[in-house]
Formats: sequence, C-alpha cells, structure tokens
Amino acid sequence: MSQWLDNAIFYEIYPQSFKDTDGDGIGNINGITEKLDYIKSVGCNAIWLNPCFESPFGDAGYDVSDYYRVAPRYGTNEDLKRLFEEVHKRDMHILLDLVPGHTSVEHKWFKESMKAEKNEFTDRYVWTDSIWEEPEGMGCIRGISDRDGSCAVNFFSHQPALNYGFYKPDPQKKWQQGTEDKGPLSTLNELINIMRFWLGMGCDGFRVDMAGSLVKNDADGKGTIKLWQKVRSFLDREFPDAAMVSEWGEPDKSLQGGFHMDFLLHFGPSHYNDLFRCEEPFFSSRGKGDVSEFVKKYTENYEKSERKGLICIPSGNHDMDRLSRSLHGDELKIAFAFLLTMPGAPFIYYGDEIGMNYVENLTSVEGGYNRTGSRSPMQWDKSLNAGFSTAAPEKLYIPLDGSSNRPDAASQLADKSSLLNEIKRLIVIRQSHKALQSKGEIEFVFAEKNSYPLAYIRSSENERLLIVINPSSEKKTFNFSADLKQKIYSFGGEILSDGGVITAEPSCAAIYALSGSYS
Ligand code: NOJ
Repeated sequence: MSQWLDNAIFYEIYPQSFKDTDGDGIGNINGITEKLDYIKSVGCNAIWLNPCFESPFGDAGYDVSDYYRVAPRYGTNEDLKRLFEEVHKRDMHILLDLVPGHTSVEHKWFKESMKAEKNEFTDRYVWTDSIWEEPEGMGCIRGISDRDGSCAVNFFSHQPALNYGFYKPDPQKKWQQGTEDKGPLSTLNELINIMRFWLGMGCDGFRVDMAGSLVKNDADGKGTIKLWQKVRSFLDREFPDAAMVSEWGEPDKSLQGGFHMDFLLHFGPSHYNDLFRCEEPFFSSRGKGDVSEFVKKYTENYEKSERKGLICIPSGNHDMDRLSRSLHGDELKIAFAFLLTMPGAPFIYYGDEIGMNYVENLTSVEGGYNRTGSRSPMQWDKSLNAGFSTAAPEKLYIPLDGSSNRPDAASQLADKSSLLNEIKRLIVIRQSHKALQSKGEIEFVFAEKNSYPLAYIRSSENERLLIVINPSSEKKTFNFSADLKQKIYSFGGEILSDGGVITAEPSCAAIYALSGSYS
C-alpha cells in the first residue's frame, strides 16, 4: 500500500457543483484547480473526483460514453492533466472515479453490440440470446436493437451491464458466459487499458463504482474477487503505487481483491446509518441513538480485514442525504470528532466541512432524484451565486440553497468557532499523532446498546489515546479506570477520570493521552 495512504484525508468533489470558471453555470476542472489551495488549507491531502468523462449525463456521469475523454463541459484532457500536476505540486493525490460495471446506451461499444452482425463488441455486454428471455433478477433493455436478445442493466435502465462473465454459468442458458471466456476477458482487458491511460497521465488511482458486482451469479463475490486480483497484478507490474478504493461495503472481500480501502456504505450491512441518518441517530443530542450495532459490525470487519487495508467512513457522498439534514450545530462538530479519529482514511464530501444543507424539494437533475438535494453548488462566499459561478442564477446546474443563513467557506474561515475551523483543528491533531492515523490500532472500550458515550483507544508504538464522544445533551458515565496523562483535544466539555469511572460532560468530544495501564 502506498505510504501516502497512512495519513490520507480525502475530499470528494462532485465536479458539476464545485466551481465554475467559465460562467456556464456548471463546475469544471479548472475550477477545481483554482480551489486546490482551499482544499489543502482544510487539511485534506487527497481528492476523489466523481466521474468527469464524456457522457449523456443520465446518471450524472455514471453513464460513460467515452472513458478516454473528459466531458467537454468540464474541459479537456489537458486540463485534467494540469490538475494532476497541480495536485502533485501541493503534495496531494487524486483518484478518478472508474465505472467498470456499465456504460451509457450512447457508448459506441453498445451501439456496435446492438447490431445483428457479429462484431468485436457482440459479447461486451450481458445479452440473452432471445428477446423473449430476460436475464433473471437484473432488469434489462429490450426491443431497441436489431440483434435478437435482451441486455442486462446494472442500475438505471439506460446503463447496460458490461460482460465480465458469470461465476457459475447455467448450462441451460448458453448465453451466460464464464469469466474466462473470450468476451469477458476482452472487457477486462479494455478496463485495464482505461486504467493504464489515466494512470499514465498522472492520476494516483481510482474509486471504483459498484466494484463488488461485476461478475454475475456470484453471491459470495468469489468471481469478482478473482477479477480484481487480476487487476491488482496488472497494477503491481505497471503502477505499484496506484491507490484503489472500492464501493463494495464488504472489506473482507474487497481487500482480498487487492483494494487498499473500502467504504462503509449507507446501504448493506454496515449500520453506518445508525450514526448519522436514521430517526434517532447516535450523533443527535437527543441521546436516543444506538452505536452498538455499528461497533459490532465495524469490529467484525476490522478483524476480518486483518489490517490488510483500510475501512473508510465517509461524512457523506453524492448518493446520501447531507449530514446536516439530521444533525445540527455542535452535533456536527462532535460527529467530525468521531470521523477524524477513526482508523482508515476519512472522506469529507464537499461542503460537509461547512455544514451545507440538503436542499429540499428540488426537481431531479441528471438522474439525481432525491440525491439532487445533496449535490447543490458549493457555497464559497457571499458574492453572486455564493461565488460558485458568474452565470445568471437560473442557469446554475442545480439551484443554490436558498436559505438566508446558508453557510459559506469564507465566513466560516473568519469565524473561530465555525464547523470548518473545528474540522481544521481536528485534522491538525490527527496529522500530528500517528495513533490517530489510518493504521493506528483501535479498541472500543465503551459502546453499549442504547447507551452513551462512545469510547475507544487508538494506539501506535509509543502512544495510547482515549477518545470519548458524548453527543447527548446529558452528562454520561462509564466504568473504566485509566490514568489521563494529558489532554490533546476537547470540544464542548471535559472528561473526568475518578475511582474507575469516566464522566463525560454533555455534548462533548475529547482526546486524552493515557499513561500506564488501563482496564
Ligand atoms: C454508485 C454511484 O455512487 C451512484 O451515484 C451511481 O448512480 C451508481 N453507482 C450507478 O453507477
């Protein structure tokens, strides 16, 4: 694993909504380059850039029509190359978003694949061999091709599934190909070509969309793991420093497949939503949440992953409601104290560092639907369009948050008690304590059902830090004897250790160095 991942803190950029430098109402690559110093000043040293490739934008760019070309609305390949260079000049790193599972229906491979005559792309997608047969459990595109057959889709109905084969093809269904058949192997080969192209141009790796579902009929993920292991050998040979993070949500599998990092997701078995996005989130000051199931699952994943890779907990992303839809004020600061003291690489979704709102009641833009409210333009300052663009407000890609007290980066930078400044403080602390970084050990010391606070110890060779997180508006205690040597950080209140009991004041988060033993 590349050494820079040991203390990486990622910032996710949704390019449409970050910064527009040409006044067309939509963000672009040069806008990102312009704002690199801001990202660095927050303390982030790595970027995940959402898809920026040519696309008809039926799913905001997750429907690629040319993997080798930057979408003209974002700029040119040259602009992207310059972005890579500017990122590296600042000692930062950048991952592109790789969408290997499906293309847009507009992709030339799909157009060729729809033809009745056999050609190079006939087997690039998952097709049944009769229009009257649908690929079971997958959804499909039917009746628009000269070719006889239905084509499986991966997500929306305009995203045909690329063919990496079936783990165990059904012998009754001749159209199901094996992972070692010619069609699936040529798809994989093309995927490797795409990766080689961008890595050769200077990107530092990829966030991989739907990484766990490429091979079909593969409930245990065995076929998909094997496929990624092949990609890993290519990377080991040609780009050993490339970093890979998967949208998989099952670290025990993805890390076996050679990924360095996996996300905990808002779907699947992670219990991530218990923390931030449910009726009674753990981080609400109401104090009615439950962190125990999350911790149980996290610990299970942590042990299974045997320190081979990193489990990443995002503040949010372009698919989830903004954190500030359910948490407010100090709750957000306490949530970040947790996010920035956990192992793995933290991911901050653009705008979460200033507590941007989820914009309610927006009409869907480019396949966003309810996700659109989390994708509104970044709020930089109090100038026109919050500094996002010089276009007329009605021309903006997605309308801005219209609330009168919408947060912006410039005001928060100037306000010592802002969320942004609290996050900056936390990042400085994380970066100056190895125990808090990606690979520092974690041991949970208090994470009981329906109880507060949450407490854990992070440690490295020469340091042990106790972290106590009490989002609830009441004072909380738990049994634990420890010698609190030195306060490293506190927000909202203090921690006391007395007679085997730790007391945490209401709505507080704290980090203390421990001396001696603890129990
Ligand atoms: C996950 C992406 O994050 C999401 O935005 C997209 O719509 C689907 N995958 C399909 O690619």
